[in-house]
Amino acid sequence: MLEGKTIVLGVTGSIAAYKAVDIANQLSRAGVNVDVVMTKEATKFVAPLSFRALTGRAAVIDMFDASSEFNITHISLAGAANVVVIAPATANIIAKLAAGIADDVLSCTVLATTAPVVIAPAMDVNMYENPVTQENVSKLKERGFIFVGPRFGKLASGKEGLGRLANTEEIIGVISQVLGRSGYVPGSFADRHAVVTAGSTQEFIDPVRIISNRSSGKMGYALAEAVRDRGAKVTLITGPTLLTKPVGVEVIDVCTAEEMFQAVKNAVPRADVLIMAAAVADYRPKSTAKEKIKKKGTGLTLELERTTDILSEVKGDFIKVGFAAESENLVGNATQKLQQKGLDLIVANDITAKDSGFGADSNQVTIIDREGKVDSLPLLPKREVAEKILDKVAAILSKRQNDMNSVEIAVTRSHIKDNSNVHIPKERWDLFPDFYTKIELRTDENIIQRIFNPKYHEFALGEWFKAYQVKEGDIVRITPIEGKEKYRVEFLKK
Ligand SMILES: Cc1cc2nc3c(=O)[nH]c(=O)nc-3n(C[C@H](O)[C@H](O)[C@H](O)COP(=O)(O)O)c2cc1C
Repeated sequence: MLEGKTIVLGVTGSIAAYKAVDIANQLSRAGVNVDVVMTKEATKFVAPLSFRALTGRAAVIDMFDASSEFNITHISLAGAANVVVIAPATANIIAKLAAGIADDVLSCTVLATTAPVVIAPAMDVNMYENPVTQENVSKLKERGFIFVGPRFGKLASGKEGLGRLANTEEIIGVISQVLGRSGYVPGSFADRHAVVTAGSTQEFIDPVRIISNRSSGKMGYALAEAVRDRGAKVTLITGPTLLTKPVGVEVIDVCTAEEMFQAVKNAVPRADVLIMAAAVADYRPKSTAKEKIKKKGTGLTLELERTTDILSEVKGDFIKVGFAAESENLVGNATQKLQQKGLDLIVANDITAKDSGFGADSNQVTIIDREGKVDSLPLLPKREVAEKILDKVAAILSKRQNDMNSVEIAVTRSHIKDNSNVHIPKERWDLFPDFYTKIELRTDENIIQRIFNPKYHEFALGEWFKAYQVKEGDIVRITPIEGKEKYRVEFLKK
Protein backbone atom coordinates (compact mmCIF):
# COMPACT_ATOMS: atom_id res chain seq x y z
CA MET A 1 0.00 0.00 0.00
CA LEU A 2 2.87 2.38 0.75
CA GLU A 3 4.95 1.37 -2.25
CA GLY A 4 5.39 4.07 -4.85
CA LYS A 5 3.85 6.82 -2.71
CA THR A 6 5.58 10.11 -2.03
CA ILE A 7 5.73 11.24 1.57
CA VAL A 8 7.18 14.45 2.94
CA LEU A 9 8.62 13.68 6.36
CA GLY A 10 8.98 16.88 8.38
CA VAL A 11 11.48 16.70 11.24
CA THR A 12 11.59 19.42 13.87
CA GLY A 13 13.82 20.38 16.81
CA SER A 14 12.78 17.82 19.39
CA ILE A 15 14.93 15.50 21.40
CA ALA A 16 12.94 12.72 19.66
CA ALA A 17 14.29 13.79 16.24
CA TYR A 18 16.61 10.76 16.15
CA LYS A 19 13.50 8.55 15.96
CA ALA A 20 12.62 10.15 12.62
CA VAL A 21 15.66 8.34 11.19
CA ASP A 22 13.94 5.02 11.88
CA ILE A 23 10.66 6.30 10.39
CA ALA A 24 12.48 7.45 7.22
CA ASN A 25 14.29 4.11 7.04
CA GLN A 26 11.14 2.02 7.38
CA LEU A 27 9.21 4.11 4.87
CA SER A 28 12.09 3.90 2.41
CA ARG A 29 12.27 0.12 2.80
CA ALA A 30 8.54 -0.06 2.09
CA GLY A 31 9.21 1.55 -1.30
CA VAL A 32 8.11 5.09 -0.39
CA ASN A 33 9.80 8.12 -1.99
CA VAL A 34 10.68 9.98 1.18
CA ASP A 35 11.43 13.70 1.02
CA VAL A 36 12.79 14.72 4.40
CA VAL A 37 12.29 18.37 5.30
CA MET A 38 14.15 19.52 8.41
CA THR A 39 13.84 22.70 10.39
CA LYS A 40 17.13 24.43 11.21
CA GLU A 41 16.69 23.42 14.85
CA ALA A 42 16.17 19.77 13.87
CA THR A 43 19.67 19.72 12.33
CA LYS A 44 21.06 20.39 15.81
CA PHE A 45 19.63 17.08 16.99
CA VAL A 46 20.26 14.81 14.01
CA ALA A 47 22.49 15.09 10.96
CA PRO A 48 20.83 15.58 7.53
CA LEU A 49 23.34 13.06 6.19
CA SER A 50 21.59 10.22 8.09
CA PHE A 51 18.41 10.87 6.10
CA ARG A 52 20.27 11.21 2.83
CA ALA A 53 21.98 7.87 3.38
CA LEU A 54 18.69 6.12 4.11
CA THR A 55 16.35 7.75 1.61
CA GLY A 56 18.82 8.40 -1.20
CA ARG A 57 17.69 12.04 -1.30
CA ALA A 58 19.19 15.08 0.37
CA ALA A 59 17.18 16.44 3.28
CA VAL A 60 15.72 19.84 2.44
CA ILE A 61 16.50 22.56 4.98
CA ASP A 62 16.98 25.86 3.17
CA MET A 63 14.10 27.35 1.20
CA PHE A 64 16.46 29.71 -0.63
CA ASP A 65 19.11 27.15 -1.57
CA ALA A 66 20.07 28.16 -5.13
CA SER A 67 21.51 24.71 -5.85
CA SER A 68 18.22 22.95 -4.98
CA GLU A 69 16.96 20.38 -7.50
CA PHE A 70 13.47 21.85 -7.13
CA ASN A 71 12.17 24.88 -8.98
CA ILE A 72 10.31 26.37 -6.02
CA THR A 73 11.17 23.93 -3.27
CA HIS A 74 8.13 24.10 -0.98
CA ILE A 75 5.63 24.19 -3.87
CA SER A 76 7.23 21.20 -5.58
CA LEU A 77 7.33 19.21 -2.34
CA ALA A 78 3.75 20.15 -1.46
CA GLY A 79 2.46 19.17 -4.89
CA ALA A 80 4.23 15.82 -5.07
CA ALA A 81 3.26 14.62 -1.58
CA ASN A 82 0.56 11.99 -1.08
CA VAL A 83 0.87 12.66 2.64
CA VAL A 84 2.89 15.11 4.74
CA VAL A 85 3.99 13.73 8.12
CA ILE A 86 5.65 15.75 10.84
CA ALA A 87 7.40 13.45 13.30
CA PRO A 88 8.44 14.63 15.76
CA ALA A 89 6.41 17.83 15.81
CA THR A 90 7.50 20.48 18.31
CA ALA A 91 5.16 22.80 20.18
CA ASN A 92 6.67 25.51 17.97
CA ILE A 93 5.70 23.98 14.60
CA ILE A 94 2.22 23.15 15.92
CA ALA A 95 1.81 26.80 16.96
CA LYS A 96 3.13 28.05 13.62
CA LEU A 97 0.80 25.83 11.62
CA ALA A 98 -2.19 26.84 13.75
CA ALA A 99 -1.36 30.50 13.09
CA GLY A 100 -0.54 30.05 9.39
CA ILE A 101 3.06 31.20 9.77
CA ALA A 102 5.23 30.32 6.78
CA ASP A 103 8.86 31.14 7.60
CA ASP A 104 10.70 27.95 6.66
CA VAL A 105 10.46 25.10 4.13
CA LEU A 106 8.37 22.87 6.37
CA SER A 107 5.72 25.41 7.37
CA CYS A 108 5.52 26.67 3.75
CA THR A 109 5.15 23.11 2.43
CA VAL A 110 2.30 22.35 4.85
CA LEU A 111 0.57 25.59 3.94
CA ALA A 112 0.94 24.84 0.23
CA THR A 113 -0.16 21.22 0.22
CA THR A 114 -3.61 19.79 -0.36
CA ALA A 115 -2.45 16.35 0.82
CA PRO A 116 -3.47 15.06 4.25
CA VAL A 117 -1.13 16.15 7.07
CA VAL A 118 -0.26 13.79 9.93
CA ILE A 119 1.28 15.30 13.07
CA ALA A 120 3.11 13.28 15.72
CA PRO A 121 3.86 15.66 18.59
CA ALA A 122 6.74 15.11 21.01
CA MET A 123 7.50 17.45 23.88
CA ASP A 124 7.66 17.92 27.62
CA VAL A 125 4.35 17.16 29.35
CA ASN A 126 3.91 20.74 30.58
CA MET A 127 4.51 22.13 27.11
CA TYR A 128 1.94 19.73 25.68
CA GLU A 129 -0.64 20.36 28.38
CA ASN A 130 -0.18 24.11 28.25
CA PRO A 131 -3.54 25.60 27.23
CA VAL A 132 -2.01 27.41 24.29
CA THR A 133 -0.61 24.17 22.84
CA GLN A 134 -3.94 22.45 23.50
CA GLU A 135 -5.76 25.26 21.73
CA ASN A 136 -3.41 24.97 18.74
CA VAL A 137 -3.86 21.19 18.59
CA SER A 138 -7.66 21.59 18.68
CA LYS A 139 -7.54 24.21 15.93
CA LEU A 140 -5.50 21.94 13.67
CA LYS A 141 -7.71 18.92 14.39
CA GLU A 142 -10.76 20.97 13.45
CA ARG A 143 -9.05 21.82 10.16
CA GLY A 144 -8.56 18.13 9.39
CA PHE A 145 -4.97 17.60 10.52
CA ILE A 146 -4.52 14.05 11.79
CA PHE A 147 -2.75 13.61 15.12
CA VAL A 148 -1.00 10.47 16.27
CA GLY A 149 0.08 10.55 19.91
CA PRO A 150 1.70 11.86 21.94
CA ARG A 151 1.94 8.87 24.25
CA PHE A 152 2.29 8.69 28.01
CA GLY A 153 5.68 7.60 29.38
CA LYS A 154 9.14 8.57 30.54
CA LEU A 155 10.22 11.85 28.97
CA ALA A 156 13.70 13.21 28.23
CA SER A 157 13.42 15.49 31.26
CA GLY A 158 13.07 12.43 33.51
CA LYS A 159 9.43 13.27 34.20
CA GLU A 160 6.59 10.91 33.36
CA GLY A 161 3.68 12.21 31.36
CA LEU A 162 1.97 12.73 28.05
CA GLY A 163 4.55 13.86 25.51
CA ARG A 164 6.42 10.88 24.09
CA LEU A 165 6.52 10.50 20.33
CA ALA A 166 4.19 7.69 19.17
CA ASN A 167 6.19 4.64 18.11
CA THR A 168 7.26 4.13 14.51
CA GLU A 169 4.80 1.29 13.82
CA GLU A 170 1.94 3.42 15.06
CA ILE A 171 2.94 6.40 12.93
CA ILE A 172 3.36 4.23 9.83
CA GLY A 173 0.00 2.53 10.60
CA VAL A 174 -1.71 5.92 10.62
CA ILE A 175 0.04 6.96 7.39
CA SER A 176 -1.20 3.77 5.70
CA GLN A 177 -4.71 4.39 6.94
CA VAL A 178 -4.66 7.98 5.74
CA LEU A 179 -3.44 6.89 2.31
CA GLY A 180 -6.23 4.32 2.14
CA ARG A 181 -8.82 6.94 3.04
CA SER A 182 -7.47 9.36 0.48
CA GLY A 183 -8.45 6.93 -2.25
CA TYR A 184 -4.89 6.55 -3.52
CA VAL A 185 -5.11 2.76 -3.46
CA PRO A 186 -7.03 0.51 -5.80
CA GLY A 187 -9.81 -1.52 -4.15
CA SER A 188 -10.18 1.24 -1.60
CA PHE A 189 -12.48 0.75 1.40
CA ALA A 190 -12.73 4.48 2.09
CA ASP A 191 -16.03 5.23 3.91
CA ARG A 192 -16.61 1.50 4.45
CA HIS A 193 -16.91 -0.22 7.79
CA ALA A 194 -15.38 -3.66 8.16
CA VAL A 195 -15.94 -6.00 11.10
CA VAL A 196 -13.23 -8.64 11.43
CA THR A 197 -13.07 -11.43 13.98
CA ALA A 198 -9.80 -13.09 14.96
CA GLY A 199 -8.23 -15.67 17.21
CA SER A 200 -9.76 -18.51 19.15
CA THR A 201 -12.48 -18.48 21.77
CA GLN A 202 -12.16 -20.02 25.22
CA GLU A 203 -14.94 -22.00 26.89
CA PHE A 204 -14.54 -22.53 30.60
CA ILE A 205 -14.68 -25.99 32.19
CA ASP A 206 -13.85 -24.54 35.60
CA PRO A 207 -12.10 -21.30 36.71
CA VAL A 208 -8.72 -22.49 35.41
CA ARG A 209 -9.43 -24.93 32.59
CA ILE A 210 -10.68 -24.09 29.14
CA ILE A 211 -11.60 -25.67 25.84
CA SER A 212 -9.98 -23.73 23.02
CA ASN A 213 -8.14 -24.27 19.75
CA ARG A 214 -4.82 -23.45 18.12
CA SER A 215 -5.82 -20.31 16.23
CA SER A 216 -3.17 -17.61 16.77
CA GLY A 217 -5.27 -14.72 15.40
CA LYS A 218 -2.61 -13.86 12.78
CA MET A 219 -4.95 -14.20 9.78
CA GLY A 220 -7.65 -11.99 11.36
CA TYR A 221 -5.11 -9.37 12.48
CA ALA A 222 -3.57 -9.31 9.00
CA LEU A 223 -7.05 -8.75 7.57
CA ALA A 224 -7.84 -5.97 10.04
CA GLU A 225 -4.58 -4.18 9.21
CA ALA A 226 -4.98 -4.66 5.47
CA VAL A 227 -8.54 -3.32 5.37
CA ARG A 228 -7.53 -0.43 7.65
CA ASP A 229 -4.75 0.38 5.19
CA ARG A 230 -7.37 0.53 2.44
CA GLY A 231 -9.14 3.24 4.39
CA ALA A 232 -11.89 1.32 6.19
CA LYS A 233 -13.17 2.01 9.64
CA VAL A 234 -12.38 -1.31 11.29
CA THR A 235 -13.82 -3.13 14.27
CA LEU A 236 -11.63 -6.07 15.26
CA ILE A 237 -13.36 -8.53 17.60
CA THR A 238 -10.64 -10.69 19.00
CA GLY A 239 -10.35 -13.72 21.21
CA PRO A 240 -7.32 -13.90 23.52
CA THR A 241 -4.06 -13.75 21.51
CA LEU A 242 -0.44 -12.80 22.07
CA LEU A 243 -0.45 -10.40 19.11
CA THR A 244 0.06 -6.63 19.33
CA LYS A 245 -3.22 -4.78 18.84
CA PRO A 246 -3.25 -2.96 15.50
CA VAL A 247 -3.43 0.83 15.68
CA GLY A 248 -6.18 2.81 14.03
CA VAL A 249 -8.63 -0.01 14.64
CA GLU A 250 -11.39 -0.36 17.23
CA VAL A 251 -10.46 -3.50 19.16
CA ILE A 252 -13.08 -5.42 21.16
CA ASP A 253 -11.67 -8.17 23.37
CA VAL A 254 -13.84 -11.20 23.96
CA CYS A 255 -13.25 -14.59 25.45
CA THR A 256 -16.14 -16.99 24.86
CA ALA A 257 -18.11 -17.84 21.71
CA GLU A 258 -21.17 -16.21 23.27
CA GLU A 259 -19.26 -12.96 23.92
CA MET A 260 -18.02 -13.01 20.34
CA PHE A 261 -21.57 -13.54 19.08
CA GLN A 262 -22.87 -10.57 21.11
CA ALA A 263 -20.00 -8.32 19.97
CA VAL A 264 -20.54 -9.26 16.30
CA LYS A 265 -24.30 -8.74 16.62
CA ASN A 266 -23.70 -5.25 18.05
CA ALA A 267 -21.15 -4.30 15.38
CA VAL A 268 -22.75 -5.53 12.15
CA PRO A 269 -25.64 -3.06 11.85
CA ARG A 270 -23.01 -0.45 10.85
CA ALA A 271 -20.94 -2.85 8.71
CA ASP A 272 -20.42 -3.17 4.97
CA VAL A 273 -18.52 -6.41 5.42
CA LEU A 274 -18.11 -9.04 8.13
CA ILE A 275 -15.04 -11.25 7.88
CA MET A 276 -15.13 -14.10 10.38
CA ALA A 277 -11.53 -15.28 10.60
CA ALA A 278 -11.88 -16.32 14.24
CA ALA A 279 -11.91 -20.00 15.08
CA VAL A 280 -15.02 -20.02 17.24
CA ALA A 281 -15.65 -23.03 19.48
CA ASP A 282 -18.46 -25.23 18.17
CA TYR A 283 -19.10 -26.71 21.62
CA ARG A 284 -18.84 -25.50 25.20
CA PRO A 285 -19.25 -27.32 28.51
CA LYS A 286 -22.94 -27.48 29.43
CA SER A 287 -22.04 -26.09 32.81
CA THR A 288 -18.93 -24.42 34.22
CA ALA A 289 -17.79 -25.62 37.63
CA LYS A 290 -17.53 -22.77 40.14
CA GLU A 291 -14.50 -24.32 41.83
CA LYS A 292 -11.51 -26.03 40.27
CA ILE A 293 -12.50 -29.64 39.54
CA LYS A 294 -10.53 -31.99 41.79
CA LYS A 295 -8.63 -34.95 40.42
CA LYS A 296 -10.48 -38.13 41.28
CA GLY A 297 -11.11 -41.58 39.79
CA THR A 298 -9.63 -42.54 36.44
CA GLY A 299 -11.50 -40.26 34.07
CA LEU A 300 -13.79 -37.30 33.69
CA THR A 301 -16.79 -36.98 31.41
CA LEU A 302 -17.77 -33.52 30.22
CA GLU A 303 -21.15 -32.83 28.73
CA LEU A 304 -20.90 -30.34 25.86
CA GLU A 305 -23.52 -28.24 24.11
CA ARG A 306 -23.51 -26.36 20.82
CA THR A 307 -22.50 -22.71 20.76
CA THR A 308 -24.30 -20.23 18.53
CA ASP A 309 -23.31 -20.46 14.87
CA ILE A 310 -22.46 -16.77 14.50
CA LEU A 311 -22.26 -16.66 10.70
CA SER A 312 -25.66 -18.28 10.28
CA GLU A 313 -27.28 -16.18 12.99
CA VAL A 314 -26.18 -12.65 12.04
CA LYS A 315 -28.17 -11.32 9.15
CA GLY A 316 -28.16 -8.02 7.31
CA ASP A 317 -27.22 -6.14 4.24
CA PHE A 318 -23.46 -6.68 4.57
CA ILE A 319 -21.04 -8.96 2.77
CA LYS A 320 -20.31 -12.10 4.75
CA VAL A 321 -16.96 -13.84 4.49
CA GLY A 322 -16.35 -17.08 6.37
CA PHE A 323 -13.34 -19.32 6.89
CA ALA A 324 -13.34 -23.07 6.75
CA ALA A 325 -10.50 -25.08 8.25
CA GLU A 326 -10.73 -28.44 6.56
CA SER A 327 -8.68 -31.59 6.74
CA GLU A 328 -10.43 -33.38 3.85
CA ASN A 329 -12.60 -32.65 0.78
CA LEU A 330 -11.65 -28.95 1.02
CA VAL A 331 -13.72 -27.50 -1.83
CA GLY A 332 -16.77 -29.73 -1.29
CA ASN A 333 -17.03 -29.09 2.44
CA ALA A 334 -16.32 -25.38 2.11
CA THR A 335 -18.90 -24.93 -0.65
CA GLN A 336 -21.50 -26.65 1.49
CA LYS A 337 -20.67 -24.30 4.37
CA LEU A 338 -20.90 -21.26 2.06
CA GLN A 339 -24.39 -22.27 0.95
CA GLN A 340 -25.66 -23.29 4.39
CA LYS A 341 -24.54 -20.03 6.00
CA GLY A 342 -25.52 -17.74 3.12
CA LEU A 343 -21.97 -16.43 2.66
CA ASP A 344 -20.64 -14.30 -0.19
CA LEU A 345 -17.16 -15.81 0.05
CA ILE A 346 -15.54 -18.65 1.90
CA VAL A 347 -11.83 -18.97 2.50
CA ALA A 348 -10.89 -22.61 2.95
CA ASN A 349 -7.59 -23.76 4.28
CA ASP A 350 -6.20 -27.22 4.39
CA ILE A 351 -5.02 -27.55 7.96
CA THR A 352 -2.93 -30.60 7.09
CA ALA A 353 -0.71 -28.52 4.72
CA LYS A 354 2.81 -27.68 5.95
CA ASP A 355 3.62 -24.02 6.86
CA SER A 356 -0.05 -23.12 6.53
CA GLY A 357 -2.98 -22.38 8.83
CA PHE A 358 -2.89 -22.21 12.65
CA GLY A 359 -0.03 -20.21 14.10
CA ALA A 360 1.91 -19.99 10.83
CA ASP A 361 2.87 -16.67 9.21
CA SER A 362 1.78 -17.95 5.85
CA ASN A 363 -1.39 -19.55 4.60
CA GLN A 364 -2.45 -21.55 1.58
CA VAL A 365 -6.09 -20.98 0.88
CA THR A 366 -8.80 -21.58 -1.66
CA ILE A 367 -11.37 -18.83 -2.04
CA ILE A 368 -14.83 -19.85 -3.25
CA ASP A 369 -17.57 -17.41 -4.16
CA ARG A 370 -21.35 -17.64 -4.45
CA GLU A 371 -21.18 -18.32 -8.19
CA GLY A 372 -19.02 -21.35 -7.44
CA LYS A 373 -15.77 -19.80 -8.73
CA VAL A 374 -12.86 -21.58 -7.03
CA ASP A 375 -9.56 -19.68 -6.71
CA SER A 376 -6.72 -21.76 -5.26
CA LEU A 377 -3.88 -19.52 -4.13
CA PRO A 378 -0.28 -20.58 -3.55
CA LEU A 379 1.32 -20.47 -0.09
CA LEU A 380 1.51 -16.74 0.72
CA PRO A 381 2.26 -14.54 3.75
CA LYS A 382 -0.98 -13.96 5.65
CA ARG A 383 -0.93 -10.25 4.78
CA GLU A 384 -0.91 -11.13 1.08
CA VAL A 385 -3.72 -13.63 1.58
CA ALA A 386 -5.62 -10.81 3.29
CA GLU A 387 -5.08 -8.54 0.27
CA LYS A 388 -6.39 -11.25 -2.10
CA ILE A 389 -9.50 -11.70 0.04
CA LEU A 390 -10.04 -7.93 0.16
CA ASP A 391 -9.67 -7.65 -3.63
CA LYS A 392 -12.60 -10.03 -3.94
CA VAL A 393 -14.66 -8.27 -1.29
CA ALA A 394 -13.97 -4.91 -3.00
CA ALA A 395 -15.18 -6.35 -6.30
CA ILE A 396 -18.43 -7.57 -4.69
CA LEU A 397 -18.93 -4.19 -2.98
CA SER A 398 -18.39 -2.31 -6.22
CA LYS A 399 -20.74 -4.62 -8.11
CA ARG A 400 -23.41 -4.04 -5.47
CA GLN A 401 -22.86 -0.31 -5.72
CA ASN A 402 -23.21 -0.53 -9.49
CA ASP A 403 -26.34 -2.65 -9.19
CA MET A 404 -27.88 -0.03 -6.93
CA ASN A 405 -26.97 2.89 -9.16
CA SER A 406 -27.48 1.45 -12.59
CA VAL A 407 -29.88 -0.52 -14.67
CA GLU A 408 -28.98 -3.76 -16.44
CA ILE A 409 -31.05 -5.07 -19.32
CA ALA A 410 -30.64 -8.34 -21.23
CA VAL A 411 -30.26 -7.66 -24.94
CA THR A 412 -32.77 -9.43 -27.22
CA ARG A 413 -32.48 -10.40 -30.89
CA SER A 414 -35.00 -7.71 -31.81
CA HIS A 415 -32.97 -5.01 -29.98
CA ILE A 416 -30.11 -5.82 -32.32
CA LYS A 417 -31.83 -6.81 -35.57
CA ASP A 418 -34.82 -4.47 -35.63
CA ASN A 419 -33.36 -1.66 -33.52
CA SER A 420 -36.36 -2.06 -31.24
CA ASN A 421 -36.45 0.05 -28.10
CA VAL A 422 -34.71 -0.95 -24.88
CA HIS A 423 -37.27 -0.55 -22.08
CA ILE A 424 -36.19 0.68 -18.69
CA PRO A 425 -37.89 -1.46 -16.04
CA LYS A 426 -40.23 0.47 -13.75
CA GLU A 427 -38.10 -0.07 -10.62
CA ARG A 428 -35.31 1.98 -12.26
CA TRP A 429 -37.35 4.83 -13.70
CA ASP A 430 -35.96 6.93 -10.85
CA LEU A 431 -32.60 7.05 -12.68
CA PHE A 432 -34.11 8.81 -15.74
CA PRO A 433 -35.73 12.22 -16.38
CA ASP A 434 -39.39 12.94 -15.65
CA PHE A 435 -39.73 15.25 -18.69
CA TYR A 436 -38.80 15.10 -22.34
CA THR A 437 -35.05 15.62 -22.05
CA LYS A 438 -32.12 15.30 -24.39
CA ILE A 439 -29.86 12.78 -22.69
CA GLU A 440 -26.30 11.91 -23.59
CA LEU A 441 -25.26 8.26 -23.64
CA ARG A 442 -21.57 7.41 -23.84
CA THR A 443 -19.35 4.41 -24.02
CA ASP A 444 -15.61 4.87 -23.48
CA GLU A 445 -15.24 5.66 -27.17
CA ASN A 446 -18.51 7.12 -28.47
CA ILE A 447 -21.36 9.42 -27.55
CA ILE A 448 -24.93 9.53 -28.82
CA GLN A 449 -27.81 11.83 -27.91
CA ARG A 450 -31.36 10.63 -27.40
CA ILE A 451 -34.55 12.45 -26.58
CA PHE A 452 -35.86 10.63 -23.56
CA ASN A 453 -39.59 10.12 -23.56
CA PRO A 454 -40.68 9.75 -19.92
CA LYS A 455 -43.99 8.22 -20.96
CA TYR A 456 -42.46 5.07 -22.41
CA HIS A 457 -39.03 5.01 -20.69
CA GLU A 458 -37.30 3.57 -23.70
CA PHE A 459 -34.72 4.28 -26.37
CA ALA A 460 -33.07 2.40 -29.20
CA LEU A 461 -29.42 1.35 -29.07
CA GLY A 462 -29.39 -0.93 -32.12
CA GLU A 463 -26.56 0.94 -33.86
CA TRP A 464 -24.31 0.39 -30.84
CA PHE A 465 -25.33 -3.23 -30.43
CA LYS A 466 -24.13 -3.81 -34.00
CA ALA A 467 -20.98 -1.69 -33.68
CA TYR A 468 -19.90 -3.39 -30.44
CA GLN A 469 -20.92 -6.84 -31.67
CA VAL A 470 -23.34 -7.26 -28.81
CA LYS A 471 -25.04 -10.64 -28.94
CA GLU A 472 -28.46 -11.77 -27.79
CA GLY A 473 -28.31 -12.44 -24.03
CA ASP A 474 -25.46 -9.97 -23.40
CA ILE A 475 -26.24 -7.31 -20.81
CA VAL A 476 -26.36 -3.58 -21.38
CA ARG A 477 -25.65 -1.63 -18.20
CA ILE A 478 -26.69 2.05 -18.07
CA THR A 479 -25.36 4.20 -15.25
CA PRO A 480 -26.04 7.90 -14.65
CA ILE A 481 -22.75 9.82 -14.50
CA GLU A 482 -24.04 13.37 -14.35
CA GLY A 483 -27.48 14.06 -12.95
CA LYS A 484 -30.17 12.78 -15.27
CA GLU A 485 -28.41 14.06 -18.38
CA LYS A 486 -25.34 11.94 -18.99
CA TYR A 487 -25.16 8.15 -18.81
CA ARG A 488 -22.41 5.56 -19.21
CA VAL A 489 -23.34 2.55 -21.33
CA GLU A 490 -21.43 -0.73 -20.92
CA PHE A 491 -21.89 -4.01 -22.69
CA LEU A 492 -21.33 -7.06 -20.50
CA LYS A 493 -20.72 -10.08 -22.66
CA LYS A 494 -22.44 -13.32 -21.77
C1 LIG B 1 17.72 19.70 24.27
C2 LIG B 1 16.44 20.26 23.73
C3 LIG B 1 15.36 19.43 23.53
C4 LIG B 1 14.16 19.94 23.05
N1 LIG B 1 13.11 19.09 22.84
C5 LIG B 1 11.93 19.59 22.44
C6 LIG B 1 10.83 18.73 22.24
O1 LIG B 1 10.91 17.50 22.41
N2 LIG B 1 9.66 19.26 21.83
C7 LIG B 1 9.53 20.61 21.61
O2 LIG B 1 8.42 21.03 21.28
N3 LIG B 1 10.56 21.43 21.77
C8 LIG B 1 11.77 20.97 22.17
N4 LIG B 1 12.82 21.82 22.33
C9 LIG B 1 12.64 23.24 22.01
C10 LIG B 1 12.71 23.45 20.51
O3 LIG B 1 13.93 22.97 19.99
C11 LIG B 1 12.53 24.91 20.17
O4 LIG B 1 11.19 25.32 20.49
C12 LIG B 1 12.81 25.23 18.71
O5 LIG B 1 12.63 26.60 18.48
C13 LIG B 1 11.90 24.42 17.80
O6 LIG B 1 12.14 24.79 16.45
P1 LIG B 1 11.41 24.07 15.24
O7 LIG B 1 10.00 23.86 15.64
O8 LIG B 1 11.54 25.05 14.11
O9 LIG B 1 12.13 22.83 14.96
C14 LIG B 1 14.04 21.33 22.78
C15 LIG B 1 15.14 22.15 22.96
C16 LIG B 1 16.31 21.63 23.43
C17 LIG B 1 17.49 22.56 23.63
